[in-house]
Amino acid sequence: MSSRPVPEYLLPDTHAVDETGKSQIGGVDLVNLADQFGTPLFVYDEVHLENRCKEAVEAWGKGNVAYATKAFLCKEMARLAINSGMNLDVSTFGELYLALKAGAHGSSIVLHGNNKSSEELGLAIENSVSKIVVDSFNELDRLEALARGRPGPIRVMVRVTPGVEAHTHEYVQTGQDNSKFGFGLSGGYAKTALEKISRSPRLDLVGIHVHIGSQIFSTNSFSLALSTIADFVRDLDIEEVCVGGGLGVGYVEGEFAPTIAQWADTIHQAAVEAEINPRVRLSAEPGRSIVAKAGVTLYRVGTIKDVSETKTFLSVDGGMSDNPRPVLYGSGYEAFLPRSFRAARDKVLDIVGKHCESGDFIIKGANLPGDVVVGDILATPVSGAYGYSMASNYNKVPRPAVVFVKAGEVKEVVRRETHDDLIRLDL
Ligand code: LLP
Repeated sequence: MSSRPVPEYLLPDTHAVDETGKSQIGGVDLVNLADQFGTPLFVYDEVHLENRCKEAVEAWGKGNVAYATKAFLCKEMARLAINSGMNLDVSTFGELYLALKAGAHGSSIVLHGNNKSSEELGLAIENSVSKIVVDSFNELDRLEALARGRPGPIRVMVRVTPGVEAHTHEYVQTGQDNSKFGFGLSGGYAKTALEKISRSPRLDLVGIHVHIGSQIFSTNSFSLALSTIADFVRDLDIEEVCVGGGLGVGYVEGEFAPTIAQWADTIHQAAVEAEINPRVRLSAEPGRSIVAKAGVTLYRVGTIKDVSETKTFLSVDGGMSDNPRPVLYGSGYEAFLPRSFRAARDKVLDIVGKHCESGDFIIKGANLPGDVVVGDILATPVSGAYGYSMASNYNKVPRPAVVFVKAGEVKEVVRRETHDDLIRLDL
């Protein structure tokens, strides 16, 4: 980590520094936002979200790109993605339910999941989702049963495990042999799944799906996945091959990821090289690359404690309950003080949460300005993906509010949980 200010490329598109050195997003002062809505607070740059959606739709073509809602979902996010021309990828009843409640039409939704229940499949079929990505033989049986007595066939894709190990954390690899996801190419499972579908008048094979993992920087991994399945898909009568999501983002200084446009270009090129029939549409489901950099989390500093001559802990009012990624995957983040964005960050300390365990850290060895004091607002950029969506109520901490900012206006899109919310399920 370095003592330089956080590089601007890790910040949302509309981030700016005013004449007094304070950070703004969407023309709104971050410290004022924290004062108004409390902390922790998830702040999203609406223009950044729209820009990434537009970039994705341009790169893949309308109808060929679905936003992976697991990265961050609330009604306003679903509406923004749909209004920007994206489809939605959902993987549970809950995500599907929310998408429908937000006004999404089934025809713009694709359903995923390695253990879809009959209820999940039923809701998807009732709402005529565009595709169900089948992940197991049990699911095929369930679909067959649900399809009985329905007017038309159910549109399915088959998720294939290509046996490609993407360069990323093992917990978010999915394309390797022995993955819990999909039908293996090796071992003939994928072939058997296709045979089963072709024998069924109730199931219509629309395409092949090959998602190899998440937070991937090397576009070659995606090309390799495509070339690996090329022979398999060559003679199939399908409309679509979907590469899933997985494009990485930079979280800390010095980490650079390809853009959505570069990612799409490489994959289109790889499809040509692998001689995949040009009539087959290529599609994708980006999540992280749409929302990660759009979001910044604001915390208030509660305590600063020296525990030795070389170790200082700075505790904030959130932690693993709003961002479990450092603990789960050892993910790195940067931090800054929005009151003085350009200040040198010459103090090294550990930023930790308020939860009752030593594993509850946000950044080990973080750099912050030396004049940081209790009461300051602290921001962690690139926290828009898999933060709020994986938030918990550990230690009975209410989940934060979420606001969207744009052109000087603030929209509260998810309110902060109350302490009464925390006991509403208790009987
Ligand atoms: N499509 C499928 C079938 C997926 O399973 C996923 C992510 C995506 C698309 C979107 O991938 P993305 O573009 O966001 O990489 N909690 C982990 C990430 C788990 C990803 C799960 N699947 C993290 O915080 O890094």
